[in-house]
Amino acid sequence: MSDRGSRGRQARIAVIGGDGIGPEVTAVAADVLAAAAHRHGLDLTLDRWDLSADRYLRDGVAITDAERDRLVRDYDAALLGALGDPRVPDHAHIRDILLGLRFHADLYVNFRPCKLLIPALSPLRDPDPTTDIVFFRENTEGLYTGLGGRFKAGTTEEVAVQESLNTYRGVERIVRAAFEHAAATGRGRVTLVDKANALVHEGALWRRVFAEVGAAFPDTAQDAMYVDAMAMDLVRRPQRYEVVVTSNLFGDILSDLGAQVTGGLGLAPSGNINPGVWALFEPVHGSAPDIAGQGIANPLAAVGCVALTLGYLEMDAAAADVEECIVASIRERVSTPDLGGSATTREVGEWMTARLRD
Ligand code: NAD
Ligand code: IPM
Ligand code: MN
Repeated sequence: MSDRGSRGRQARIAVIGGDGIGPEVTAVAADVLAAAAHRHGLDLTLDRWDLSADRYLRDGVAITDAERDRLVRDYDAALLGALGDPRVPDHAHIRDILLGLRFHADLYVNFRPCKLLIPALSPLRDPDPTTDIVFFRENTEGLYTGLGGRFKAGTTEEVAVQESLNTYRGVERIVRAAFEHAAATGRGRVTLVDKANALVHEGALWRRVFAEVGAAFPDTAQDAMYVDAMAMDLVRRPQRYEVVVTSNLFGDILSDLGAQVTGGLGLAPSGNINPGVWALFEPVHGSAPDIAGQGIANPLAAVGCVALTLGYLEMDAAAADVEECIVASIRERVSTPDLGGSATTREVGEWMTARLRD
C-alpha cells in the first residue's frame, strides 16, 4: 500500500499528554510516530499541548473555546494520553477537554478495536485466536450529554435525574458507520447492543434504525443483543462478534471488557472520529493513578493510537509498520509488567523506535 492518500504526506498532529500515565505513554507514542514518519518520508508536525489537571489547577480553566477551535482548525488530528486526577474530584477538566472535544467537534464515532494479537494475552482458558471485535460506540449522545439535574441537593430528599438523549440523526449515523465499516473491511456480522427490554423508548428507536439501515446491507449478518447477555457472551464466545454498535455508556463499559478479553487495557487504542472532518485518538484506558510515575505503564495502547492515526491520515504503510512493531514487541517479550514482562514504558518505546529506524 502506498502512503499517497488524498491528504498527501503532510499532517499536523496535536499531542496532549494529559494526566497520570498519560504523559508517560504519550511520550512513547510521539517517539514512535516520529520514527515511523522518518522511515516513510512523511512530513509530520507534532505540537505538544498542555491540557491537563495541572493546567486546570494553575489557570482555573481546562481549555478555552478558542483553543478548541484552534485544535480542530489547525490540526489534522490529535493524540491524547489520558485525563483524570484525584486533585480534581468532580472531573471538571475531563468534561471540558475530552467530552468537550467529542461534543464540540461532533466526534460521533468512538472506534474501539479489540483484536487478540496473540492468544496467550487473553485471560480466557481456551481463547479463539480469531477474536477480533470492533466497537462502534455512539459518542455524542446517550447518557453523556449532562441533561438532567439535581433537586434538593445535599438533603435526604435529594433527587437526581440523568437523561438519556437519543436522536434519529445520532443513531442513524453511528449505525450506518458500523455497517459501512463492516462492508469495507469484509466483516460479516454487525451486532446491535441495547437494553430494549427495559429502556423501551431509546430501545425502540435504535431497533428501528438498525433494521432500516441494515436493509441496505443484505450480505451482512445482523443481530441484536441485550447488554447484560452481551457482557456474558463477550467472555463466553467473543470470537462470534465482528462489529458491535451501541450507545455511549454501553460502549464505554463493553469496550473495557473487550479490551480485557484481548489482552488488557494496556493494549486497547481508540479513535473519536467525525469522518472526513477531525479525529482525536486516545487509549481506552485512563490515567491509572495507581501506577502513575512508576515508569511501568504499558505504552502499547498509545502506540496503537499512532497506528490508528496514521491509518486515518491514509498513511497506510506507516500504520502497518507500527502495528507490526506492536506485535513484534510482545513476541520478543519486550513488555511491561501488565503483560508479564519486566520492561519499563521507556524501554518498550526505545525498542520500537530502534526497530523502526533499522
Ligand atoms: P484506568 O483505566 O486508569 O485504570 C484501570 C486499571 O488498569 C488500573 O489498575 C490501572 O493501573 C490499569 N491500567 C490502565 N492503563 C494501563 C496501562 N497503560 N498499563 C498498565 N496498566 C494500566 O481506570 P480508572 O482507575 O477507573 O480511572 C482513573 C482515572 O482515569 C479516572 O479519573 C477516570 O475518570 C479517568 N479515565 C480517563 C479516560 C480517558 O482519558 N480517556 C478513560 C478512562 C478513565
Ligand atoms: C473513556 C472514558 C471516558 C468515557 C470518561 C473519562 C469520561 O472512560 O473514554 O472510555 O466514559 O467516555
Ligand atoms: Mn471508558
